[in-house]
Amino acid sequence: MKKGSILFINEKEAKTLITAEEAIKLSEQAFADFSDKKVINPVKLHTPLYPYHDGYTNCMPAFSATQDVAGVKVISVYKNNIKKHDLPATIGTIVLNDPDSGCPLAIMDGTYVTSARTGATMAIFSKYLAKKASEVVTVIGTGAQGLSSVIMILKVLPKIKEVRAVDINPAARKHFIDEASKIYPHVDFVEFDDLQSACTNSDIVVNAANSSVLLLPKIKFNKGTTVLVLEEDLKPSYVKKTFDAFVVDFIDCFVERSNISLNHRHDAYGEEVELVTAESISGEIGDVIAGKKKFRKSDDDIIVASSIGMGIQDVMTADYIYKKALKKNVGKELEFLDL
Ligand SMILES: NC(=O)c1ccc[n+]([C@@H]2O[C@H](COP(=O)([O-])OP(=O)(O)OC[C@H]3O[C@@H](n4cnc5c(N)ncnc54)[C@H](O)[C@@H]3O)[C@@H](O)[C@H]2O)c1
Repeated sequence: MKKGSILFINEKEAKTLITAEEAIKLSEQAFADFSDKKVINPVKLHTPLYPYHDGYTNCMPAFSATQDVAGVKVISVYKNNIKKHDLPATIGTIVLNDPDSGCPLAIMDGTYVTSARTGATMAIFSKYLAKKASEVVTVIGTGAQGLSSVIMILKVLPKIKEVRAVDINPAARKHFIDEASKIYPHVDFVEFDDLQSACTNSDIVVNAANSSVLLLPKIKFNKGTTVLVLEEDLKPSYVKKTFDAFVVDFIDCFVERSNISLNHRHDAYGEEVELVTAESISGEIGDVIAGKKKFRKSDDDIIVASSIGMGIQDVMTADYIYKKALKKNVGKELEFLDL
């Protein structure tokens, strides 16, 4: 590449440059490096556009000292995008920078990278927190993140025999089953209408629904269940009475972001505000990966784990794709700086 040029990599290209296994490995490394204080990952800057527009944008910069990679993801979540614009709900852009000069190296997809690293997080939570003999997974919300989660979880828990799909949109449920069963033809994919029936005797429950109504408090979980959460607001009193441990990816970010969201729930729906504190959280997944902590003490524990999402996962995943693109001559070189 010419000095001052950038590489442009679109979503279609990004999808061809990383496997599920590679995405899991990169996020696992990102969490472990975060635990070892080898990354700079500020709390994400959350910009809600309510009440003017029905969505928000997050800005997520990060640097890894072990990989020497730097960049920033800008990501939007507009829950009604599919219905309103026939566009994905979650859309992102990543800028990678040369950590030595700050010079931009790539402007690239952040939509596929987000679903890949989010699914990877669900797989890592499952690998370190779920019962080893887990056989049944329930996915609530079978959109982009739900699909990626199941694809990744089945890579780390090959004993899974049954996947239950719950979604208020039958088309999303069908798409999920069509796509996932192409990759895992030996697994039984079953559609469920009733939330409780879908979760009863399920070893892992993933809540990837973008519901404005809280779903988890409506469910009674069996002993031993591992509940994985993408965006449901987890009030400390509910967590305390329901779960034996509460694990997140990034405590400071989780606390800040949850409280913004709980205050929003108060303004929008009149719900009582019950703020999340760091003390209500058992710990971070990076500490489990690094062998510093262990949260599942027995096969009877009911554990909840929630991901707020970390820029370092995006930047490390994007850098991997960028380097692969350079090697395989994929993407478009664009003149950028006027040198
Ligand atoms: N923590 C993270 O790192 C992270 C990353 C990306 C997205 N997210 C969150 O994940 C959620 C899903 O994002 P997505 O990109 O998959 O969106 P999506 O629109 O593709 O999928 C969401 C699905 O949830 C379904 N749904 C909504 N209400 C439901 C209900 N009450 N019961 C069952 N299903 C219901 C919708 O029909 C839809 O199919 C969003 O809330 C988003 O903010 C979190």
